[in-house]
Amino acid sequence: MNPLETTPDKARPVVAEAIRTEGLARSFGDLLAVDHLDLSIPTGSIFGLLGPNGAGKTTTIKMLTTLLEPTSGHATVAGFDVQRQPREVRRAIGYVPQLLSVDGTLTGRENLIVFARLYSVPRQERIRRIEQALEMIGLTDAADTLVKRYSGGMIRRLEIAQAILHRPTVLFLDEPTVGLDPVARRAVWDHVKELQTSFGATILLTTHYMEEAEMLCDQVAIMHQGKVVALGSPDQLKSEADEAETLDDAFVFFAGSSIDTGGTYRDTARTRRTARRLG
Ligand SMILES: Nc1ncnc2c1ncn2[C@@H]1O[C@H](COP(=O)(O)OP(=O)(O)OP(=O)(O)O)[C@@H](O)[C@H]1O
Ligand SMILES: [Mg+2]
Repeated sequence: MNPLETTPDKARPVVAEAIRTEGLARSFGDLLAVDHLDLSIPTGSIFGLLGPNGAGKTTTIKMLTTLLEPTSGHATVAGFDVQRQPREVRRAIGYVPQLLSVDGTLTGRENLIVFARLYSVPRQERIRRIEQALEMIGLTDAADTLVKRYSGGMIRRLEIAQAILHRPTVLFLDEPTVGLDPVARRAVWDHVKELQTSFGATILLTTHYMEEAEMLCDQVAIMHQGKVVALGSPDQLKSEADEAETLDDAFVFFAGSSIDTGGTYRDTARTRRTARRLG
């Protein structure tokens, strides 16, 4: 029962740093969206990228998942260079994008079949891998229900199941719990934690929720206008921020304003757009 186990014939080299960036940067015209990022993320850890809207979190993930070319700098993921070895990187990673990646007119199981094909999971293994992923993410009973009948939390869990079908070692989750109620959010946290503890996956997630970062992350980087303004464990950041009582207070200390500024409306609008498209 291990969707992430490596098959012996295709065992991947284990590297100490699952993700490493050196001076990684991306501009859009005059805007430096990601400003020379240096990160070192140990294999098997959960790393949180925090920051307000527009901080550069998604742009960073897109470069690390080979979807966007860096303007300058370097990055390796699972030991592979994102620019020189994009195919190897893609094989080693799973990606849950910020926006919707499931089809509401299909069932949960049908969505997983589409992704198993997309990821070239061997035909004879598809059914077993899909059953394992459904069980792992707690969707076995809902597998044959149309996804447009799923709750937001179930959709997010299905997207995580899609992203682990090909047994990646590094997972990128862009705002995994945006718009979810506290119970659904907690369920996603439990599954993310299990991917780390049971399977040794390395997880990079972005979030606006300080509580989420405190619950899940071994290390967090606070991003602001493309730069990392603070880096460390949640406890370290709190103590560095004038003994802040909460990570929210630490965020204000480092980024100069509350994480919620401007976020609430956009998050809500985005969630509604998601709901409409599922129709
Ligand atoms: N394709 C693009 N073309 C032009 N500008 C872009 C593009 N993608 C992102 N940007 C800009 O780059 C900056 C960083 O955007 P990014 O999506 O990385 O932020 P984010 O931290 O993920 O924000 P959010 O919390 O809203 O998801 C923003 O100012 C954004 O408008
Ligand atoms: Mg984003």
